[in-house]
Amino acid sequence: MKKTTLILGACGQIGTELTLTLREKYGNETIIATDINEPRLAELKNGPFEVLDASDSDGIRAICEKYNVTTVYHLVAMLSATGEKFPMKAWDLNMRSLLYVLELAKENIIDKIFWPSSIAVFGPTTPKNLTPQQTIMEPSTVYGISKLAGERWCEYYHNKYGVDVRSIRYPGLISWKSQPGGGTTDYAVEIYYKALEQGKYTCFLSEHRALPMMYMEDAVRATIELMEAPTEHVKIRSSYNLAGISFDPATIGASIKKLMPEFELNFEPDFREDIAASWPESIDDSSAQADWNWSQKYNLDTMTEAMLTNLKTKLQLL
Ligand code: SER
Repeated sequence: MKKTTLILGACGQIGTELTLTLREKYGNETIIATDINEPRLAELKNGPFEVLDASDSDGIRAICEKYNVTTVYHLVAMLSATGEKFPMKAWDLNMRSLLYVLELAKENIIDKIFWPSSIAVFGPTTPKNLTPQQTIMEPSTVYGISKLAGERWCEYYHNKYGVDVRSIRYPGLISWKSQPGGGTTDYAVEIYYKALEQGKYTCFLSEHRALPMMYMEDAVRATIELMEAPTEHVKIRSSYNLAGISFDPATIGASIKKLMPEFELNFEPDFREDIAASWPESIDDSSAQADWNWSQKYNLDTMTEAMLTNLKTKLQLL
C-alpha cells in the first residue's frame, strides 16, 4: 500500500494552503486531509477528506492504519487570544493531540511529524529585538505556555526515542485563501479585508506595536523545505526561529496607502495589546538559514501587493 501523509486541522489557516500545496506536489490521493469540520473550501475535497477530532486518539490511529500514513502534519491549536478566554480547553487541546501523535511515532506507526510552534513561546523577559534561537523563554499566555511545553516534548521524543519531529516557530501568518481565528496577529489579515471592503480599519493593537509576521506562501515553503531536509541537517528538534517581516500597524497601514491612498487607519487597543507587548519585535533566524538553507522571499510591500490583488479577486467572486 502506498505511503500517505495526514494533515490534522486541514481547514485551518495553515492547513488549507499546506494541503493544497502538498497535493499539487505529491498527488491528491497521497495527502489525507482531516478536520473537526467539513471544509468550506470545496477544493479541499479534491483528495481524501475525513472529519476527525484531533482529541480522538483512536480516531487518529484508525485513519493512520486505514491510509498507511507515515507522515503527520499536526496543525490543530487554540491560538493566543481565544486561549486566554478558555485556558484549560486551550491547554488540553494543544497538548493532548500532540502527545498522541508523538506516541504513534514512538510505536513506529508513523515515522515523521511536523508540529508548529510560535513566537508566543517568548515572553516579556525575552530580548525583544533579533530574538536568538536560544534565549530566555517565559511565555505569559496559555497558548505560549502550551507551545513551549510542546517544543520540550518534541525534543524529548527525538532524544529519547529517535522520533523524527520537525518544527517552526511561525511569526504571525498572513494569508488570503483562509482566515486566521483567535490570534493576536490576526489584525494584519483583517486590515487587508477592511481596506478593500470599507476603505478603513480600526486596529486592536497600538500604532507602534511591532511584531514578526510572514506571508503564507513563504511559511508553506519553509514548512515543506524543513520536512524535506536531510535528517542530519535538522539539528534543532525543539523548533526553528523564522524571522519573517517585522512591522507595526502604522507601517502596514502605510504600505496599504501606497496602493490605496484613501485608506484610513485608527487604533483602539484591547486586551490583545498586552499579549503582543510580551512577544518579540524581530527574530534572528540564522540557524534555519545555516541548517536547511532557509531564505525568505516576500517583504512588506510585495506581500501587500499580493494580498490586495488576490483578495480583490476573491471578494468579487463571493
Ligand atoms: N498567530 C498566533 C497568535 O496570534 C501566534 O502564533 O496567536
